[in-house]
Amino acid sequence: MLIHLIAAARPNFMKIAPLYHALEKEPWAEPIIVHTGQHYDLNMSDVFFQDLELPEPHIHLGVGSGTHAEQTGQVMIAYEKIAHEAKPDLVIVVGDVNSTVACTLAASKITYTKPPNPTNPNNPINPTNPINPTNPNRPFVAHLEAGLRSFDRTMPEEINRLVTDALADILWTPSVDGDENLMNEGVPLEKIQRVGNIMIDSLEMMRGRIEDVEIYKNYGLGRGGYGLVTLHRPSNVDNPEMLTLLCQMLQRIGKKLPLLFPVHPRTRKCLENTGLYEQLNNCDGITLTEPLNYVNFMNLVFNCRAAITDSGGIQEETTYLGIPCLTLRPNTERPITIKQGTNQLCSIDNLEEILNSILSGRGKIGSVPPLWDGQTATRIVRSIRRYVL
Ligand code: UD1
Repeated sequence: MLIHLIAAARPNFMKIAPLYHALEKEPWAEPIIVHTGQHYDLNMSDVFFQDLELPEPHIHLGVGSGTHAEQTGQVMIAYEKIAHEAKPDLVIVVGDVNSTVACTLAASKITYTKPPNPTNPNNPINPTNPINPTNPNRPFVAHLEAGLRSFDRTMPEEINRLVTDALADILWTPSVDGDENLMNEGVPLEKIQRVGNIMIDSLEMMRGRIEDVEIYKNYGLGRGGYGLVTLHRPSNVDNPEMLTLLCQMLQRIGKKLPLLFPVHPRTRKCLENTGLYEQLNNCDGITLTEPLNYVNFMNLVFNCRAAITDSGGIQEETTYLGIPCLTLRPNTERPITIKQGTNQLCSIDNLEEILNSILSGRGKIGSVPPLWDGQTATRIVRSIRRYVL
């Protein structure tokens, strides 16, 4: 079975890595990594392939930055050509970035000019499969991390999630709220399968190296003695007024808890355009760094006192590790991290107060959601066999 794993942007790489490694061990599977090129900087892409022991992408579409339509359209055009030539049996898309929706759209509408012969015993697509009996002439599309909803359509990622889930044939969800959202949208039950959180597989796969690096010492920080900051959502960084208020808040916090802030390229541009980069960089108690590789970054998560973030993945990783997470957003598509985990939604108005209660030992205590156990890739491999073989 020819399987395309679509990887595009930083948060995708740790989602495809455990799955690639699990599929590679299966004699019936030929996993192929397709990198769309949405993230292209060395420290946003290549270092993750090295860290996660992935091979060089087998196929590179070379699509870079652009507006949403440009980026989505260019990935669609480039991937449609590849899919026509390679004829994958299964296309696996992950997360919610522009490339996720682009490859889903392209793959869902393909009709192979030479359809696989349904009577051929080697044809991996079972024509009696209940999901897609009418059209065996296109690849199956599976979405890993399906069903997440922020219910906020001003977020580009929410649009990507809605469209991807409406089209995909197989929907692998990380938690029960994902199942519920899909059922509420009328998705047939047989398409939905809860497999757990694949990010935890990567974390467990790399735990030994993550614990060994002790990178926080390089910044003169002690274990549990600093806050880790990441910000890159358009709603936080694109608006100069909002960004200024956030930077003022970080400067105040830095006076009581040293902050380490690996700066996303989007955020760096916005900070530089407003002159805030230099201001933060010269501020006592705040250390700015380039984006870091997976192992070093996760070492900083493991050892921080609290994370201040607007990232999706960090909300999940901190819940798994039992570390307080202050999410600078009005909503989250990962409510399980609030209901069960250590995550709390914050705004500029209340973040400092919540952080103070954490620093005085009155922080929220959480637990780990079911199936966040490092075995998600194994469950996905089982699911592929069940659905498609
Ligand atoms: C994207 C995803 C977001 C994800 C995030 C993780 C979409 C809509 N957004 O946001 O869901 O959480 O990745 O990082 O798909 N840039 C570089 N170098 C790079 C990559 C990007 O300089 O390697 C710059 C580009 O010039 C671009 C900006 O960063 O203007 C934003 O990149 P883009 O891929 O559009 O979105 P992200 O903000 O990274």
